[in-house]
Amino acid sequence: MPTMRLQTLSLRALLFLGLWHTGRRSLASAPELQEQPKKIAVVGAGIGGAATAYYLRQEFGPGVKIDVFEDGSVGGRLATVKIGDYEYETGGSVIHPLNLHMKHFVDKLGIPQRKDVPSKMAIFDGKHILFEESDWFIVNFFRMLWRYGLNFLRMQMWVETVLDKFMRIYQYQQFGYSFSTVERLLHAMGGDSFLTLMNQTLEEAMMGEGFSQVFINDIVAPITRVNYGQSVRINGFVGAVSLAGADSGLWAVDGGNKKVCSGLLYNSKSELIPARVTSISVKVRPSKRGTPVSLYEISYVDQSGAAHSLYDIVIVATPLHRGKSDITFSGFSPPIPSHYPGHYHQTVATLVHGLLNVSYLGTTEAASEFTVSDVLTTDSNGSIINSLSSLDPVHIPKGYKRPPASQANVWKVFSKKPLSQEQLENMFLSYDSVSETKWLAYPAYHPPHRKTPPFILHNRLYYLNAVEWAASAMEMSAIAARNVALLAHHHWHEQKSKIDQEDLHTRLRGEL
Ligand SMILES: *[C@@H]1O[C@H](CO)[C@@H](O)[C@H](O)[C@H]1NC(C)=O
Ligand SMILES: *[C@@H]1O[C@H](CO)[C@@H](O)[C@H](O)[C@H]1NC(C)=O
Ligand SMILES: *[C@@H]1O[C@H](CO)[C@@H](O)[C@H](O)[C@H]1NC(C)=O
Repeated sequence: MPTMRLQTLSLRALLFLGLWHTGRRSLASAPELQEQPKKIAVVGAGIGGAATAYYLRQEFGPGVKIDVFEDGSVGGRLATVKIGDYEYETGGSVIHPLNLHMKHFVDKLGIPQRKDVPSKMAIFDGKHILFEESDWFIVNFFRMLWRYGLNFLRMQMWVETVLDKFMRIYQYQQFGYSFSTVERLLHAMGGDSFLTLMNQTLEEAMMGEGFSQVFINDIVAPITRVNYGQSVRINGFVGAVSLAGADSGLWAVDGGNKKVCSGLLYNSKSELIPARVTSISVKVRPSKRGTPVSLYEISYVDQSGAAHSLYDIVIVATPLHRGKSDITFSGFSPPIPSHYPGHYHQTVATLVHGLLNVSYLGTTEAASEFTVSDVLTTDSNGSIINSLSSLDPVHIPKGYKRPPASQANVWKVFSKKPLSQEQLENMFLSYDSVSETKWLAYPAYHPPHRKTPPFILHNRLYYLNAVEWAASAMEMSAIAARNVALLAHHHWHEQKSKIDQEDLHTRLRGEL
């Protein structure tokens, strides 16, 4: 998506990269008296579900059978579409250089990163181009300084402060620590300041930090609009994640981000069951040791009809929200809802192969000179689109150069509503293919903060997508995946000392 050249790789953060590759956590696990679980189910094969299968295998070893249920395509909201000879991302597209789990996955799976194609950003207010990035860093720098004073530099510092705290999670997880709620996980990373961010709008948080309203409207809003399809009234935490998504060094997976999901499923030796889960119910059985144990029965519908299976542990890795899933939970006390409060925000991704009408952007530049790749938009009445980007294929062919706007190209338009033919005809001089995907892409974020759904729905029944209410991103799902795999392991082996520990940052400081 957008790339503004903000240099925010901190040295401290880079150190974690080194730490990561040293492998497994070093604390010895408690004597494992209890036998291992026999069967675990994961519901959903998006990045969250696939990463969960991977971490479950790591935690429970080779003996357990892991089944992954998926109704649609592996990858979920990571998806591609073919236009002409090439494939293009329609969903989650960029990954931050400090997203260490995603980095670990591609390294582990041996999938290369996609080759980088230089990008150039502009901001459109519905009538005119407000700002156009120059090829020269120094020109951009002085333009920004002129218009926004030190807001730009301060934004980099603010994002870096948040990112530094965010990075702590990798160390905690390396040592096997896990958290029972999103709030506790956030608190462990950033203390009260992260919870405050969750409870404020990004606008409030940034005004509180002394940013100017004009900077927030001109620069920050376009970034939240391209990344989350929403205004600066999203929560401050997802807002900070969104601003980090404007950093330099963003990357994607060669051949499509969804390849990570199929790769993780394969690596975890789990079985993919193409079926729709209709209900999860609890069955209590006596055990050898006398204390009754609960098993979970998953009922599902596949091509050959309805069926069901029993599991020791179940992880739900699909949003429990209207339009995203429809699972009945039965036999639970207190009851578990099929849908939690709040809804998912619709973003329509329209991929158009055609000739852009550069006059639509109110520019008088010749199309052959127009080399902007990402047009972001302010939150104004005139903007029917959230963003407009020239799209590169998921695999960059040799010698590829992004064509200028005078040549037919693939453009991705994000908008809240589907584009009408009239709108398309105004935006493009001509086009020969249109592919529209309506995503319920991420939560509709409306602070103040409502308690997020729990990670633990029942004794051995977990819910991964609760994390999306803090921020929805591939890396957030990967972090939640490792967290629920650790929770599942620690509950099973009764290692309470690894759950919800306070003050880990101070306690682990000596370990670095
Ligand atoms: C969030 O803010 C509201 C007031 O705006 C306050 O009542 C509530 O306690 C806060 N919640 C948290 C978790 O900080
Ligand atoms: C291109 O956009 C301009 C400005 O919106 C519009 O006046 C013009 O009709 C468009 N051109 C075509 C061919 O649609
Ligand atoms: C949007 O436009 C309408 C009418 O054109 C106007 O009444 C309204 O105040 C505008 N809203 C904003 C936020 O500019």
